[in-house]
Amino acid sequence: MSSRPRVLSGIRPTGESFQLGNYVGAVRHWAAMQDENDCFFFLADLHALTETPEPAKLRGRTRQAVAELLAMGVDPVRSTVFAQSHVAEHPELAWVLGCLTGFGEASRMTQFKEKGGGSVGLFYYPVLQAADILIYQANAVPIGEDQRQHLELTRDLAQRFNARYGDTFVLPAAYEGRAGERIKDLQDPTRKMSKSIGGTGTIWVLDDPKTVTKKVRSAVTDTGREVRVADDKPGITNLLTILSVCTGKAVPELEDAYAGKGYGDFKADVAEAVVELFAPVRERYAGFIDDPAELDRVLAAGAARAREVAVRTMTTVRERVGLLAPT
Ligand code: TYM
Repeated sequence: MSSRPRVLSGIRPTGESFQLGNYVGAVRHWAAMQDENDCFFFLADLHALTETPEPAKLRGRTRQAVAELLAMGVDPVRSTVFAQSHVAEHPELAWVLGCLTGFGEASRMTQFKEKGGGSVGLFYYPVLQAADILIYQANAVPIGEDQRQHLELTRDLAQRFNARYGDTFVLPAAYEGRAGERIKDLQDPTRKMSKSIGGTGTIWVLDDPKTVTKKVRSAVTDTGREVRVADDKPGITNLLTILSVCTGKAVPELEDAYAGKGYGDFKADVAEAVVELFAPVRERYAGFIDDPAELDRVLAAGAARAREVAVRTMTTVRERVGLLAPT
């Protein structure tokens, strides 16, 4: 088992549910990697705190998020599924790594810059993410393109630690699937679809078919009538990406298929494809969410497995940096 590459990734339990972009950019790859890899997937509830959600909402949403992951094909038997806050070594390692992170370096992270500042927690976000990854000695991290900068910081910190204290951390590589699969907001296709923006531009994994259809039909399109990828057609380009992901057909093939047809037919097909993609997910979700005790058992077993690895790494780290061992 330990000879398989270690894969790790996380997702924040925020928003109403996960959204199409989370599935396309991350979770579908998680599900596909489980046979060949030793996988660790977690709910980044500590990272979710940077949005200071309602306490009851965060708690409920975290459990719901487990059911969603299972419904999307994450298998808690083959993979270690847990909540970040159940493994206290994550923030512990984050502190150590933070002491190796330059203030300017952290200030340059776009997520922090885009939000125009905010809490110290938001500033520290990428350092905690680096700890999440390094503590499991992960080889590969399946993430969407928006997380690439955080992975670069993670590699920099691993190298810095290794150079200063001796070889300790594996250098992780990003895994981004096929290029260009960043899903954009349906109402504003110049920005990514996101849990924190929500609204009619976001397709939730658990949206009912009617809602999905309505959102796709009212998606912002561009001037002209041609269904093709172009820089000045971000709306149509985004819908083509979505249709390609849902159907497994290449974009040029779809462009040919819609030559001479209008936006109306095209949008109807996109809506149908998304509905079909998530229909089995919604069905399985309904089964999982009905049994909260089982979801808690999944998290407990996952945390126990995760802790074994995390404690081992942290013991080495404590020793390497010179913290006196308690007697
Ligand atoms: P989060 O919850 O924002 O997103 C989870 C995953 O979904 C991807 N993603 C997208 N991919 C394509 N198109 C989109 N519109 C889109 N929106 C989101 C994200 O790239 C991500 O892979 N910081 C992480 C959570 C995290 C983490 C980690 C990830 C915490 N620690 C350690 C990997 C390893 C995040 O923002 O997730």
